[in-house]
Amino acid sequence: MSAVTIAVLSQKGGTGKTTMVRSLTDVFGRLGLDVLAVHADPQGNLSDYFDADPEASPTLGDVLQGQARAADAVHGPVIPANLALSEAELALAGKIGREVTLRRALMDLKRSKDMILIDCPPTLGLLTVNALVCADHAILSTEAQYFSLQGVEQAMEVVDLARDSLNPDLELLGVCLNIANMRTRHARHTLQTLEERFGDRMFHTVIRQSIAYAESAERAIPILDYRPDRGSDYLSLAGEISRRLERPDLLERLDDLSAEVVPAGARS
Ligand SMILES: Nc1ncnc2c1ncn2[C@@H]1O[C@H](COP(=O)(O)OP(=O)(O)OP(=O)(O)O)[C@@H](O)[C@H]1O
Ligand SMILES: [Mg+2]
Repeated sequence: MSAVTIAVLSQKGGTGKTTMVRSLTDVFGRLGLDVLAVHADPQGNLSDYFDADPEASPTLGDVLQGQARAADAVHGPVIPANLALSEAELALAGKIGREVTLRRALMDLKRSKDMILIDCPPTLGLLTVNALVCADHAILSTEAQYFSLQGVEQAMEVVDLARDSLNPDLELLGVCLNIANMRTRHARHTLQTLEERFGDRMFHTVIRQSIAYAESAERAIPILDYRPDRGSDYLSLAGEISRRLERPDLLERLDDLSAEVVPAGARS
């Protein structure tokens, strides 16, 4: 068995990618899967969300530079990164096989883990391409903004490119509207536009906007523990992902988990 490997990406910053990786790592972990989160963003904060030791070493940068084995860079549920990852990305740019470096590096871990979630940077550059070449599925996260459609289309082009060139097995798992305030007409209109354009590739789950995410990130507490009524959005997304991955076994466990963590009165 090889780990289900999912890259979470977007064409721009601040669309909730890192929060999605953090929350899905938590949810699928609670379902009994051995999940690894890979922090592939030099600027990002996934490692903080997991409360990883900022001095943890080796990191993804060392792995991509060939200075450490990926297995040695696993610290708890995450392969962390820091600013040194941008140096590694630059160094990678001049090398043969630069697009397949992450795939090669994670090969062994893929055999031992059940699921790997890769948190991409907010650009469609070499790190994102590495994530897409390594993954078998991609999830696009998008905010309800005026240029959402264009951003999703650009990200999709990169997914297509990775599939057509180096990773024929890559599948787009879906597009998720994230950080959305569905009380605004604008967000509802964005969702409608995205649904018209992308049809059943849109996830039905919308991750609602809530200050609870920033608060829980600051405290390095999973959203399901901090505000289960909000975290239920990620339970619902995990359900759709499980269905698209054809894993009915996960759906059963997810029902039990929902009943356990989301108080009946708080469901919304
Ligand atoms: N559903 C949500 N509602 C409100 N705020 C959210 C939600 N999800 C994430 N956030 C907050 O929005 C900010 C950006 O989220 P996050 O870091 O997950 O985005 P990102 O796409 O990874 O950003 P970057 O592209 O910079 O890496 C953070 O402060 C986070 O706590
Ligand atoms: Mg991020």
